[in-house]
Amino acid sequence: MNKNFLSIFDLSKGDVERIIARSAEHREMSAAGGIGKSLEGKAVGIFFEKPSTRTRVSFEAAAALLGAHPVFIDSANMQINRGETLEDTAKVLSSYLDIIVMRTHGQERLEEFAAHSSVPVINALSDLEHPTQALADIFTVASHDIDVSGFKLAYIGDGNNVANSLVGLSSIMGFDIAVASPPGREPDRTILNRSGMSNGRAAHITITDDPVEAVCDADVIYTDVWVSMGQEEGADSRKLFEPYQVNTALLSHAPADAIVMHCLPAHRGEEITDEVMRSEKCVAFKQAENKLHTAKSALEFFLRWSGD
Ligand code: CP
Ligand code: NVA
Repeated sequence: MNKNFLSIFDLSKGDVERIIARSAEHREMSAAGGIGKSLEGKAVGIFFEKPSTRTRVSFEAAAALLGAHPVFIDSANMQINRGETLEDTAKVLSSYLDIIVMRTHGQERLEEFAAHSSVPVINALSDLEHPTQALADIFTVASHDIDVSGFKLAYIGDGNNVANSLVGLSSIMGFDIAVASPPGREPDRTILNRSGMSNGRAAHITITDDPVEAVCDADVIYTDVWVSMGQEEGADSRKLFEPYQVNTALLSHAPADAIVMHCLPAHRGEEITDEVMRSEKCVAFKQAENKLHTAKSALEFFLRWSGD
């Protein structure tokens, strides 16, 4: 049976701690110029149905640097684009590859693909979740000497895929999370329920429409785009999000040593100002770099689980 990584809930606290520790080793090995070839002989498929800069390149580089062969598969140039089924595509691709990193639209598409794949499947972003991003994020938090089970994250903006995986991660690791979103744009209800929320309450989760309330005692302030890939038709909802910009006025309500995170790509002037992006508080480019180290660890972790 494959061990897939379709949702952040596929990992335990111990798994996340192991991935954090291994990612720190990868960062050190990379800084020292030494590269372990732990994935020699493996073929890593990177099957994307949406654009990507960081996730695609970090997984391709991670696979290559660990001695595996990365195979990028652009769905636009596949027979799936001419009517071949997802089931048949999964059966065929998994007969060539040892693991498949997939970015797609609905979570159900990912689940259907994984159900017909004979090798592990990693979610590289769906409309519902972005669990590999959450791994890079928690590794970034750990890298700032913040206790990953004892801090508070304030997520400001759209309760989207990135927010959903962070909410799930908060319940796995035991950190506090406050999500400030416009009414109607809160994180997914099923994710909140799986994270321990019942009757709208959970000890470690706050859902609010007030960004000041969310940031006032936060160690980490996190934001993401107001319009996610595939939601462009709802782009006129930007007006709804204007009070949710991460700017110096909002940060004046946060602790002075709070760090600012963004999974990128950033839309400066929308969810975050250029001034905050360029400030020392903002660790978004460290987060982006950390995607390489956590991609290496995730590939090792899930290839090992496949029973090789
Ligand atoms: N953060 C992230 O997933 O970026 P990409 O869309 O560029 O992969
Ligand atoms: N929420 C964004 C994340 C991009 C990395 C999107 O889905 O487009």
